This record gives sequence, structure tokens and C-alpha cells, in this order.
Amino acid sequence: MKREMKELTPREIVTELDKYIIGQDKAKKSVAIALRNRWRRLQVKGELRDEIMPNNIIMIGPTGVGKTEIARRLARLSGAPFIKVEASKFTEVGYVGRDVESMIRDLVDFAVNMVKAERTEEVQPKAKKMAEEHLLDLLLPPIRRKKENQEYEVGEELEIEEMREKNRDKLRELLKQGKLKDRVVELDVPKTQNPMMQIISPVGVEEMGFNFQDLLGGMMPKKVKKRKMTVDEAKEFLTQEEAQKLIDMDDVIKQAIMRVENSGIVFLDEIDKIAGGKSSSGPDISREGVQRDLLPVVEGTNVITKYGMVKTDHILFIASGAFHVSKPSDLIPELQGRFPIRVELESLTEADFVRILTEPRNALIKQYTALLSTEGVKLAFTKEAIAEVARIASKVNDRAENIGARRLHTVMTTLLEDILFNVPNIEEKEIEIDKKHIHETLDKIVEDEDLSRYIL
Ligand SMILES: Nc1ncnc2c1ncn2[C@@H]1O[C@H](COP(=O)(O)OP(=O)(O)OP(=O)(O)O)[C@@H](O)[C@H]1O
Ligand SMILES: [Mg+2]
Repeated sequence: MKREMKELTPREIVTELDKYIIGQDKAKKSVAIALRNRWRRLQVKGELRDEIMPNNIIMIGPTGVGKTEIARRLARLSGAPFIKVEASKFTEVGYVGRDVESMIRDLVDFAVNMVKAERTEEVQPKAKKMAEEHLLDLLLPPIRRKKENQEYEVGEELEIEEMREKNRDKLRELLKQGKLKDRVVELDVPKTQNPMMQIISPVGVEEMGFNFQDLLGGMMPKKVKKRKMTVDEAKEFLTQEEAQKLIDMDDVIKQAIMRVENSGIVFLDEIDKIAGGKSSSGPDISREGVQRDLLPVVEGTNVITKYGMVKTDHILFIASGAFHVSKPSDLIPELQGRFPIRVELESLTEADFVRILTEPRNALIKQYTALLSTEGVKLAFTKEAIAEVARIASKVNDRAENIGARRLHTVMTTLLEDILFNVPNIEEKEIEIDKKHIHETLDKIVEDEDLSRYIL
């Protein structure tokens, strides 16, 4: 389980990234160092620790070469609070003026959920036990007194108690063996909140990070309703409920904010789309404004969230952009200065494509093979066929737009369309894709430039 920031060394980080991303060694190295530096900083004692700033990174490279993918994988393996935001969304019509600080609030929300999930996991065994007892109460309701004011004889009471204990033990045993799983019990579940609330929640409140519903929810008594469910469902439900009770939310929040402040990562995608703010008309006008708004957040400021104040000084920012039209130097200088590390990602070659098709844990060929195997069909590619797919993808990239590895997706879906459509209504249980098959399915499309522009 991911607890604190996992203590992977830079080399280990790169090894992990290698499992999913082909090439791009420079970028991998930079992010690995940046990540490890977070951990190193926390080991530094005294005042100096606060002085050590994260080395924010800008990843520059054409589309579809792995920028977002690197960030996404990094987040998973670091166990650090992570969010990805498109910088361009702050300039969109309707979003204009949406404050960029909201990304820090989202990050905190994420961290709170993350810590909460971990804690839930930790208390699971205890919660399970408690749920079981609760369930036994439901299955074996407490014995009612005979009549008002009528006391049991001393001996009788003991006897009943004893019998009850015995029955309860028996029942517990049955429950453990799963023999009661289809029995139906009735229990109280909280009523879901009225969805209307969301609609009437005034704009602007969200900006403050306060949730109208939370405010009202706290003021109004919790409503419950009776619901019938099977013992199995009830066990699940009660375990969750008991787990919630066992978790100290104040502590969760404290921990979450600490993690955000010390190891949080914000991935600012599409940063090139907010570069070049000098354009004169249209909704673009706010680009430079967005950059200015970003400055304090990246440099370090206090952001008010519904969980309290969060310092952004040590949050790591990784920006990324294709920079086709604009250049990093089109960003306002102050912002450029806050991203001292620049890494360029290379365009992918045909040889890279061959590897991307086969090597990553989630390689496309592995994906399609797995999909078809669910229908009892064994899909296989010959070596030449894979090389051919790579060649075609690379050719179309050269001729039309270069969309990097994304081209492999379009080529593969076109290539496999008929098979994916016809399975399971065909006899064959083993399909081998060879070079010939590829020529038969794709040549017509590849040759026809217009057609390939639309399809591939
Ligand atoms: N180097 C690579 N190794 C393995 N797969 C890759 C690589 N580059 C891209 N891919 C595949 O292509 C897809 C698109 O890549 P990604 O989202 O990282 O592009 P990007 O560089 O962020 O492009 P954009 O500038 O358009 O956002 C990924 O989901 C991944 O499957
Ligand atoms: Mg991207």
C-alpha cells in the first residue's frame, strides 16, 4: 500500500517509467530527479529545508510522444497527490475568470480522498468485525421483555442470556461460512441528498471552495430510510459505515494538507495554449492574464480551501506543451523563470513504434489480444506484421499530420475493425495477422491520400 511518498531512487523511477514509456530518456531523468528531490528535501533538517524550492519542469515536444503519459505514470508510482489540469481551460469562454487557485483546491480534495482511502483500508479488519456484530444484532434481535414492569426471575434471565449467546455464536459461525449470504435484512441507510441543492448553489461559492451542500448538510438532521438487502450487501455496507466511524477526519485532513504542501504535484498540460498573450481579439485575450494568475500559485502563496489554508511553495509543477505555434519564450518572463528545467521530448521513430506496439505493459497489441481472448479467440501478430504497422503509422505521420504514437491507435483500429466486428460469429479461433493481411486491409486506404486523411 502506498503510504508516504514511496522512496524510489531516481534510477528506480526511470525503470518504472520504462515499463510504460518508450524512449524519452531525458524527460524521464528530469522527472525522476525532481521527484527524488522532494523526498531529499524532507530529509534536510532545519531552516534550509524551507529554502529548497522544487525544480519545476517544462516538457516540450510534439503531440503524442508521451508527455502526458510520463506525468500520469509518475503520479501513480509516486503515491503523491497529483492532478492534471489543462492550462487552456482557464481561458475558455465561460471559464474566463475562473481562478487558477481552484487547481490547488482540487489537489487538496484529491489528497483528502487518497488519505481517507488509505485509512479506510487500515481500519478494514476492525470495521469488518464491528459490521459482523451489527449484522448479528439484525439477524437475532434483542429479546423483548415479557411485559412492561415484569421482571425475569434471576435464573431465567441468565438462562435466556446464555441461550442467546449460544445462538449468536452459532449464527456467527454460519455467517462466517457464508451460509446466510442470501438472507434479507432491513437496515437504516442515509437518504441521498436532494440533487436540487446542487442546481441552486450559487456561482462563486464554489470559487471560495465552500460547498453549499456541506454547509446545509451539517445544519440539517441526517435523514435515514429503511432498506432491505441481502446479508452480503449489508456486510459490505456496514463495513463501510463502521470504517467511516473509525476514521479521524481531522487527522486525515491534516495529513492530506501536509502531503499536498510537501509532495503535491500539479501537471499543467497545454501550457503552450496560454503563451503569446499579445493577440488582440477574441476570448484569447485572457491568456496573459492566466499566466499572471499562475505566477503566485507556482511561486508560492497561501490558498484557502474548504479544509484550511494550503501553502503552495513546495508543490512541484510540471508543465507541458507541444509549442507548435508558440515558443516557451512567448510565455511571460516571470513565468518562464519559475520553470527552470526544460526538457525536450523527441519525435518517435518507426523503430520506437515497433517497441511501443509490443513492449509497454499496456501495449496496444497486448490490449487487443486480451480483448479478443475474452471471446476465446487467440490473436497473434507476426514480426513482419508489427514492423509493417509501424511503417504505415510512420508514413501517414510524415504525409499527413504528425500525431505521434496516437497514429498507432488509428491504424490498429482500422486494421482490426473487421475482426472485432465479426468475432464471435466466425469459426476461427486463432487469428494470425501477417504482412499479407495488413496489405489486404490497409493498402487501399494508405494509397489513397484523401481517404487516409480521414480514416487513419
Ligand atoms: N514514448 C511513448 N511510449 C509509449 N507509448 C507512448 C509514447 N508516446 C505516446 N504514447 C502513446 O500515445 C498516447 C498519447 O501520448 P500522450 O498523451 O503522452 O501525448 P502528449 O505528448 O501528451 O501529446 P499532446 O501534446 O497532444 O498532449 C499515450 O496514451 C500512449 O499510449
Ligand atoms: Mg498531452
